[in-house]
Order: sequence, then structure tokens, then C-alpha cells
Amino acid sequence: MDMPSKMQPPNDILNSKTFCSALSDCRRPVDQANSLPAACYHSDEILQYEKETIFHNNWLGLGRADRFKEAGQYETLEIADVSLILIRDRDAKLHAFNNACRHRGARLLEGDGKCRAIRCPFHCWNYSVDGRLVAAPHMEDTRDFHHETSGLVEFELKIHAGFIFACFSPDPPNFERHIGDFDQLHSPWPLESLVSTRRIRFENDCNWKLFLDVFNEYYHLPYVHPDSINDVYKKPDAGDRTSGAYASQFGETEGTGGLLAAEQAHTLPPIPGLRGRNSRGTRYTWVFPNMTFAASTEAMWIYEAYPLGPRKCAVYQTMCFPQQSVDLPDFEARVRYYYERFDAAVEEDRIALENQQRGFNSPFTLPGRYCVGLEPNVSGFANWYAEQFQ
Ligand code: FES
Ligand SMILES: [Fe+2]
Repeated sequence: MDMPSKMQPPNDILNSKTFCSALSDCRRPVDQANSLPAACYHSDEILQYEKETIFHNNWLGLGRADRFKEAGQYETLEIADVSLILIRDRDAKLHAFNNACRHRGARLLEGDGKCRAIRCPFHCWNYSVDGRLVAAPHMEDTRDFHHETSGLVEFELKIHAGFIFACFSPDPPNFERHIGDFDQLHSPWPLESLVSTRRIRFENDCNWKLFLDVFNEYYHLPYVHPDSINDVYKKPDAGDRTSGAYASQFGETEGTGGLLAAEQAHTLPPIPGLRGRNSRGTRYTWVFPNMTFAASTEAMWIYEAYPLGPRKCAVYQTMCFPQQSVDLPDFEARVRYYYERFDAAVEEDRIALENQQRGFNSPFTLPGRYCVGLEPNVSGFANWYAEQFQ
């Protein structure tokens, strides 16, 4: 790729020939593809485009459905300028609402918790947990005002394999096409039945895509995680050919990918039903754009990444185990070794990611090439992402 002869003005990246040609260089098989241009990792203009095009129009992976156990249990998520309420109603149905009052727009809920109704803190309009407006004080004289048409704005939501997917667009893309052959490829793992045992949030000073990139590649393991987890991972299989908006790669492990190399003696029982090579390795999957997970021998771990700015992101991590393991009397003591492994790896990745972000902040950083065997998921995402700009 040629160096740009003249830097483009910062508000015109999307129309620049250099940027468009750099994106088209991502739309090739991994052995021929370039990585994404640096602007995708530092530019306000690109982030704005991502919000409007990628986040507001696609199915987003929002973690596991089983964390909403009771009626009225909710969590708010800040996603690309949209504040979202996920809440379970009295019939156990999960809803995704715009977190803004239908009166004059005030934010309704913060953080997570449990409520009997959603009450606006501004003028006290009250909504039921299924989104209906049930009370609005002193509104009798307002003509043609109807409770029935003043409920919360609701987004499309689907639960698939135990994962929540939502789409902000009133005209969402076809979900079956989005998922493609996901079920077939993941059929050895009983994904739907796995139980969430920990969900944590943290922030990283890097672009949201960088977090997902590093989770999905084996290349950095010996250099970023030499003493913690590198010895566990063997050379992975080639990346899978997939249909649908996701990439996936399986690799065998020496012991489990869920524990530090030095703590393999603390393995919990295997996921029931896993056979052959699937019982000796981990499948890393990235469901585009923002959710990734690893289905392993006795656990599954999931990350969702959301932009907080071009150079900052929020990440949620969820750990899941089979019910049989969660029911063990000493589960709480044994699962701590798993949490310790993830805390250690996340911290090692954080240092590498903040360093990588500093390199990507320069407008003179050029796209690179991929290691074919170790970075196919990263290339698969870049290919899909570049397509969203066409
Ligand atoms: S903005 Fe919510 S009741 Fe007025
Ligand atoms: Fe890592």
C-alpha cells in the first residue's frame, strides 16, 4: 500500500481514496488481506460512522439471557449513544427498551437491579416492566393523549443459544442470515444450558475492536502471556469457513484453556456430552460486531465490547459453567482458580492493548498483514467490517 501523498482533512476520511482502498484490501482471504487502516482505531469520524451504521443497524450480542432470573430484573447498557434497558417481565419475557421517558426524554434507569415498575424520576410517569405506560399524573386535559400509545420504545430482541441479540433498527437485517451455520458449528457444546456465574465490567484505553481482535488471535500468546496461559494452547486448526456474520477457530489445548498453566490441577468436571477433539480444546468465536466467546472443555467465557470513544471501550466478561458443576458443594472455592486465570490474562492483554493503541494513534501507521494460521478470526472480522462501509 502506498503512503498517502497528502494527509486528508480529518473530517473527510470516509471519502478519501486512500481509506476506501485500504478497506478494500481487507476484503480478501486471510493470506492476502491487509489489516484495517489506523483511522478505524483512532478517528472520531469513523466512530460516528460505526455508531450509525454498524451499531444502530446490526444485531448486537448482549451477553447471556440467564442473568435475568426474576421479574423486574434489569440491566442498562450504554451502546453507541443509545442507553438500553434489558428487563424481564412478569411472564419471564425479556425486553430491550430505549432508556428514555416518552414524556420529555429523561433517562429512566441506571446500572442494574430489580424493580416493580419503571418510574421516571422527572415527572413520575410510570411504566410496567413490560413497557406499558400505566400512570401519568395530571395529563387529563391533554387532548388525544393515550396511555396505550405512550409505552417505551422497544427494540427487537432474540435469544439464541442462550445469548441475547438486539437490534436498534426498526427494520433489522434477517436474523437467520446473521447467524448462518452457527448452530451446526457449535452443536458439540450445549451452549444454551450453560449457566452464568460471574459478570464483570471493566474499561480499556483502546478502541473496542482492538479488545475483540486480541481475544481472537493466538499469535500474541507466547509474547503477552508467556508464563500464564501460553503453555496451555497448542497450534490451532485453520479458521473455519462459516456462513453468517461470525468467525470461528478451534484449537486443542494441553489441559484446559480456562485455567492458568500452573493451576491445571484445579479443573472442574467437563461439559457433559463433549466428545473427541472437542473435549480437548477450545473454540473461539466472534459474532460480529461486538460479542465473542470461547467454548471450552468445562467452561465458556464471553466478552462484549462497546465503544466509549475512539480510544476507549467498555468490556463485559461473563463466565459460564454446566449446572452440574455449579451444583457441586465446593464450586465457589474451585471456580476461583478460573476467575484468577481470566483476571491475569485480561491484565496482561490490557498492557499490550494500550501500547497497541498508542501506535494506532499516529495517522502515519499503515495497515499490516496477518499470520494466516494464528489470526484468521481477526481477518474475518475486518473483512465483514470493511463490507459495512460499502
Ligand atoms: S420526562 Fe419522564 S415524566 Fe417527564
Ligand atoms: Fe490475550
